[in-house]
Amino acid sequence: MQLTVPDPSLVLLIGPSGSGKSTFAARSFPPTAVLSSDEMRRLLADDPSDQSASADAFRVLALLVDGRLSRRLLTVVDATNLRAASRRRWRAMARRYGVPAIAICFDLSLASYLELNRRRAGRSVEEWVVREQFERMAAALTDIADEGYAALHLLRDPAEVAATTVSIAR
Ligand code: CTP
Ligand code: MG
Repeated sequence: MQLTVPDPSLVLLIGPSGSGKSTFAARSFPPTAVLSSDEMRRLLADDPSDQSASADAFRVLALLVDGRLSRRLLTVVDATNLRAASRRRWRAMARRYGVPAIAICFDLSLASYLELNRRRAGRSVEEWVVREQFERMAAALTDIADEGYAALHLLRDPAEVAATTVSIAR
């Protein structure tokens, strides 16, 4: 399965913790295109999971996303993106620079999210958090269809995530 992403574009990865966003991003996009909230927390607090650094992390992330889009560079936001308000903010940024917004949704079963988290080395998220994010993902999926993305891609199970490659079209 191949998915074509225009360059430039703003790509929002959407999915709960452990759904495989960072793994997918790392093998699909050039390293500088991928901006993750975890990486901002790591730079700010020496710990990618330090939630107390989130406000600062999203401020820095927004500056970088804005700066890349203003230069019309392919930009991938690697965060859960489960909140409608944060997705709206990213889309507004893309619109300001006339860059299309693309959504890639990691729409897996609750069992898959839980299993991926259990298998995770080091920083696994507590099960109740994953369950809560699963609920928010369901809500996000109903909203996303009407949010006006130039393209909307749904990856429905871990095998599909693994089998999907990205072709970047200039
Ligand atoms: N993983 C896996 N097989 C895959 C993809 C991911 O076993 N095909 C594992 C990774 O090694 C990792 C876990 O699943 O331990 C979560 O993947 P990750 O890409 O880190 O998920 P994210 O969605 O980026 O999670 P977070 O939002 O917490 O950053
Ligand atoms: Mg990640």
